[in-house]
Amino acid sequence: SAHVADDLTRVLYTPEQVTERLQAVAAEIDRDYAGQDLLLVGVLNGAVMVMADLSRSLSIHCRMDWMAISSYGSGTQSSGVVRILKDLNTDISGRHVLVVEDIIDTGLTLSYLISNLRSREPASLEIMTMFRKPEAQRNAVEVKYVGFDIPNEFVVGYGLDYDGRYRNLTAVGTLAPHVYS
Ligand code: PRP
Ligand code: MN
Ligand code: MG
Repeated sequence: SAHVADDLTRVLYTPEQVTERLQAVAAEIDRDYAGQDLLLVGVLNGAVMVMADLSRSLSIHCRMDWMAISSYGSGTQSSGVVRILKDLNTDISGRHVLVVEDIIDTGLTLSYLISNLRSREPASLEIMTMFRKPEAQRNAVEVKYVGFDIPNEFVVGYGLDYDGRYRNLTAVGTLAPHVYS
């Protein structure tokens, strides 16, 4: 269909559910980082929506920086190959860093990213992700803030893409089979 929302077969989370959960997570972050100078590190491209909404739900001061790192390419499966396409503009040594992600699937992207960022000696380093799949446990990535734990299905919307599309959906759901063929 010409309308992006028509390609969803099932809505897992409505925009209202996403917003409500995100505000609860933001309240936790406000409390945990009170009085500290927080640097949010968004992982392009998927984290753009979460970053925009999370940062505007915070009451504390924060700065934002971005990394582009890709493991998926255009398919629906992780390739396991992680590449830095764009590095941070900020020196994070001595800074309180919170990595912001849309989804953790296998955890390969973040386990690579976290060990890379840790070597730069930030004062603290934590992760916030809007969605997390069960597979993520296998790569033992410690995540401090999780929006929703979701089943192992391919979902799109709210930053999550299929071949670059569907990031602009405000709902999160599964794609109709006709989209793949
Ligand atoms: C997706 C998603 C996460 C990563 C999670 O990014 O946004 O960054 O995959 O998968 P993993 O836990 O199995 O590593 P992708 O590589 O598709 O790039 P994108 O953000 O530009 O869509
Ligand atoms: Mn991503
Ligand atoms: Mg992607």
